[in-house]
Amino acid sequence: MRRPLFHKLSLIFGPRPPWSWLLLCFVSVLGLIVLLRSSSSTSFDSVTLSIKSDIYTNYRRLKEQTTNDYLELTSLSSGDSNLKEFSLCGREKEHYVPCYNVSANLLAGFKDGEEFDRHCELARDQEECLVRPPRDYKTPLSWPVGRDVIWNANVKISKDQFLSSGSMTKRLMLLEENQISFHSDDGLLFDGVKLYSHQVAELIGLGSDAEFLQAGVRTVLDIGCGFGSFGAHLLSLKLMPICMAGYELTGSQVQLSLERGLPAIIGNFISRKLPFPSLSYDMVHCAQCGILWDQKDGIFLIEVDRILKPGGYFVLHGSSLSTKQGSMASPIEAFTQKICWTLIAQQEETFVWQKTTDAQCYSSGKQGVIPLCKEGREDIQSYYQPLGSCIGGTASKRWVPIQNRSSSFQITPADLEIHEIQQDEFYDDFESSRIALRNYWSLLTPLIFSDHPKRPGDEDPLPPYNMIRNVMDMNAHYGGLNAAFLEAGKSVWVMNVVPLGTRNTLPLILHQGFAGVLHNWCEPFPTYPRTYDMVHANGLLSSHTSKGCSMKNLLLEMDRILRPEGWVVLSDTMGTIEKARMIATQIRWEARVIDLENGSDQRLLVCQKPFVRK
Ligand SMILES: *[C@@H]1O[C@H](CO)[C@@H](O)[C@H](O)[C@H]1NC(C)=O
Ligand SMILES: *[C@@H]1O[C@H](CO)[C@@H](O)[C@H](O)[C@H]1NC(C)=O
Ligand SMILES: *[C@@H]1O[C@H](CO)[C@@H](O)[C@H](O)[C@H]1NC(C)=O
Repeated sequence: MRRPLFHKLSLIFGPRPPWSWLLLCFVSVLGLIVLLRSSSSTSFDSVTLSIKSDIYTNYRRLKEQTTNDYLELTSLSSGDSNLKEFSLCGREKEHYVPCYNVSANLLAGFKDGEEFDRHCELARDQEECLVRPPRDYKTPLSWPVGRDVIWNANVKISKDQFLSSGSMTKRLMLLEENQISFHSDDGLLFDGVKLYSHQVAELIGLGSDAEFLQAGVRTVLDIGCGFGSFGAHLLSLKLMPICMAGYELTGSQVQLSLERGLPAIIGNFISRKLPFPSLSYDMVHCAQCGILWDQKDGIFLIEVDRILKPGGYFVLHGSSLSTKQGSMASPIEAFTQKICWTLIAQQEETFVWQKTTDAQCYSSGKQGVIPLCKEGREDIQSYYQPLGSCIGGTASKRWVPIQNRSSSFQITPADLEIHEIQQDEFYDDFESSRIALRNYWSLLTPLIFSDHPKRPGDEDPLPPYNMIRNVMDMNAHYGGLNAAFLEAGKSVWVMNVVPLGTRNTLPLILHQGFAGVLHNWCEPFPTYPRTYDMVHANGLLSSHTSKGCSMKNLLLEMDRILRPEGWVVLSDTMGTIEKARMIATQIRWEARVIDLENGSDQRLLVCQKPFVRK
């Protein structure tokens, strides 16, 4: 079990000064700079050792360089209202996800199911407040124990959601009264998920589910994932399953999956495309996921076709599919032929289709009914665009059957060429992320343990990676941070976010077998509060503000997403970091600015969200 960190940290950081002290501190820090300059060491590692005080080395030189930022800073610090702390939101917002307010959507005139869709335009002008955790919130158990047992109080779930659901991927039970347990495969009774996974593997012609990777299947979009048990099993096979389900008020599949440390995101098939580029996934899976695939002239199937890679699989499982007379599968089947899918196998209630590997299939005239899309930039930047009724991706350079990929999933120069990415850019991103990750880790470790010297007989302190499982890289570039985490053997997964309007590197990120999504950071992220242990953003703040979006809203959104005691690591130019630090104080994060001391004006802002805010 994790130990509570906050009291240790408050020992390090000392009690938070009231804001009126901040000005005084600020001035005294300026006064101390000259002293500090001579005494403070300049390497990153020694900064980590002396982290008890703010690091303002070389401030004067930088001040001269960035007079403008400095002026903005002083005006910020003298403005009374600007430094007021944000208040806590009401208890009704404990599980608040912006953009999914059904009553507001109905009022705005959305109907026919569209009221359940994401409508961020209605979420503007929200009150600025800090989402607070439920009263009995507890720090999640560390991975992998936390995968199978979670705290009841951390999620919103009603009593009848425990045992009512019969689906094999949804079984869960209440342990004692404060923990929820998910049946793992080890029990004799509940080996359903393992058997099922094996069955799917056999249906696509494999000897066992251990061969998925060899067959080119790595990224799986699991729609309506239950509470993630199928995904948890696929993860153990080194696949990357992403759970996707609509927003749910209670018993949310996405909230529970993330609480278990499993990749998940809110998303639905209603009227908009998913925030993924075409040709993204090796498999799309739906076990009783509640989507009426045969409705709306098949546009949901066309959307699945869009995100599937050539040769990829669509797996549909459900008791409603194979009733004796007139199953739901037959209208689906008629449609799948028009989009060049082949029903390769069926067993009981499980159907497996394969998308064609032949791009010519669509234009051969045989099918003739579903037109091809006009290829263009809009496909790769497709961000919640209306669902389309044309077939996309066929003219893409990335049209490569999954069966033709090497199962090592190492990116080759040929892959980079297909994605039109320069080799040196890609490898530089990895190399600098690798260095950055080492720095973050050496920075976080003493923060957690320095005030607890090991006493004889004490067990070794748990390394911090046990406390960090769900990581979000808010500006993922080529996925370098994710790759660095893997290389360092940390047991984390990373949600790689590619901000809208930057170079769309998402196809390459997904191609590496990572999780990823497109997102416009001027809008809230489709996840529940307290679902990430660490958020990281390199260069996002400056590009964000240059687009005219509010940094304050962005940091408030990070706060909502972060679990208590979660970490924020921001890397940006000095002026931007100083502004972010002001806001961090208002959000009541424990915040420290770190000078990388390599001669650049890059700064790190490392923050921790407190467990309780008083
Ligand atoms: C949802 O919208 C309704 C109607 O606009 C509003 O009264 C309510 O406060 C909103 N709920 C949340 C949680 O924002
Ligand atoms: C995939 O591999 C097959 C068999 O090796 C080959 O015939 C085909 O041309 C390859 N397709 C592509 C797009 O590389
Ligand atoms: C300093 O380090 C940062 C972060 O590692 C990096 O982005 C930046 O390019 C470096 N600057 C110089 C001048 O080396």
